[in-house]
Amino acid sequence: MDAFVIRGGRPLVGQFRVNGAKNAALPLMAAALLTDQPVTLRDVPDLSDVRNMRTLLAELGCETQDPPTQFTPPPGRPSPPRTLTLRTTVGTPVHARYELVRTMRASVCVLGPLLARRGRARVAMPGGCAIGDRPIDLHLRGLAALGASVELDAGDAVLTAPRGPGGERRLVGARVYLGGRFGSTVLGTANVMAAATLARGRTLIECAACEPEIADLARLLTAMGARIDGAGTPRIVVDGVDRLGGADLTLVPDRIEAGTIMAAAAITGGRVTLTNCPIDALLAFTDILTAAGVTVEEEPGADLMRATCVVSRDTPLRPAHVTTQPHPGFPTDLQAQTMALLALARGNSVITERVFPQRFLHVAELTRMGARLDHEGPSVVVSGVDRLVGAPVMASDLRASAGLVLAGLAAQGETTVRRVYHLDRGYERLDAALASLGADIRRVRDGQPAAPPAVGDFAPVAAGA
Ligand code: EPZ
Repeated sequence: MDAFVIRGGRPLVGQFRVNGAKNAALPLMAAALLTDQPVTLRDVPDLSDVRNMRTLLAELGCETQDPPTQFTPPPGRPSPPRTLTLRTTVGTPVHARYELVRTMRASVCVLGPLLARRGRARVAMPGGCAIGDRPIDLHLRGLAALGASVELDAGDAVLTAPRGPGGERRLVGARVYLGGRFGSTVLGTANVMAAATLARGRTLIECAACEPEIADLARLLTAMGARIDGAGTPRIVVDGVDRLGGADLTLVPDRIEAGTIMAAAAITGGRVTLTNCPIDALLAFTDILTAAGVTVEEEPGADLMRATCVVSRDTPLRPAHVTTQPHPGFPTDLQAQTMALLALARGNSVITERVFPQRFLHVAELTRMGARLDHEGPSVVVSGVDRLVGAPVMASDLRASAGLVLAGLAAQGETTVRRVYHLDRGYERLDAALASLGADIRRVRDGQPAAPPAVGDFAPVAAGA
């Protein structure tokens, strides 16, 4: 298992290009199941989650080609934007197996496209994960509203579309309220919106997720011939069509990767220029950065979803109060990184997690590094300290790992972050990217230096591996 060894105290300086969004790539790849025409996605990040989705889609009859990488950039250099072309050639498999779904909960986003295009879908219930229970009751409720029958069988959700007047199995448009006790559901919205594109009649989704990745999925579906209004707002209207075609789309930049690099610049007191930065989707986060004394300067430009901005800090960090909420609220996926940052503020901060109330596995590890954190229910009081001290720590999930890396960048001495396979799920060679900004960080495997995964290392594993 790989680990990162970090010697803290070096301000990050330089330029970073934000990659395409992981949380757009996964549902947009799944959308290729809705058509037998080619779907081309550009700026797809080279991540293990993308590899896992390729494997799952291959089992479902959707093959992915990517042009052989013309070159492997030297470590730290940004890899070339990646283009994937997906094409569904076999339309019969309908089972997303537990062995694959348990490795990546986002596999659930094949449910809506499978059901809509093939009339049936069998998807393993994802179960829980490090950040908490991950139910899909809202997904199932939404698809049942479109007429699907839902049965549970041996841990799988088995959904069947109703038969139409001509005997074909086809979903029927309906009004769907998709809110749960934690608000909207991102992948639930993706599933119901994708399924509604091929339903008979109109679907209205109330309390839809407003995340930019949902708007990106709607952009792709519309380019494929779907009729969708309101994506990115809490109310989405879909008028079903009989079939969808192919499309070619460049993914929205990854706002969570961007926020993580911004926090890295802030916690080290550096100055980093981010390009291809979706600053317009990060206003709740940059609001907190500014309150904490971080400078965020946008360079004038037309597209605020692909902007250039400079993040720096030359004053002591100030405390802040953070509450995570569905977009456009403060993103839960930047909570751990912000906790690491505020651990060094002069004063007390309060961080409250309203999306995944158990998403605090990073608290104990940050405490090992000298952070003063009092966890009480859905909140943590962060009493700022003058310094963090490097220590061996254990990554538990993707974003908690990022928080530990940020703490290591600022800590005195050496930090070893173990189980960084969590990071490789959602960050493209984060070690090389941080090193290119001046961080003293190296990847080790069984105690020996290891190169970052080269471009394309995340080729699809053999199905069933
Ligand atoms: C997406 O997960 C993201 N993943 C997550 O990012 C992100 O943290 C989350 O949205 C919230 O923004 C992808 O897009 C691949 P939800 P998703 O359904 O869709 C509850 C990362 O680090 N809920 O919006 O699975 C749920 O338990 C990952 O990149 C139900 O109760 O999250 C949670 O409390 C982690 N029933 C809340 O809603 C349901 O049927 C929000 O979950 C579905 C969800």
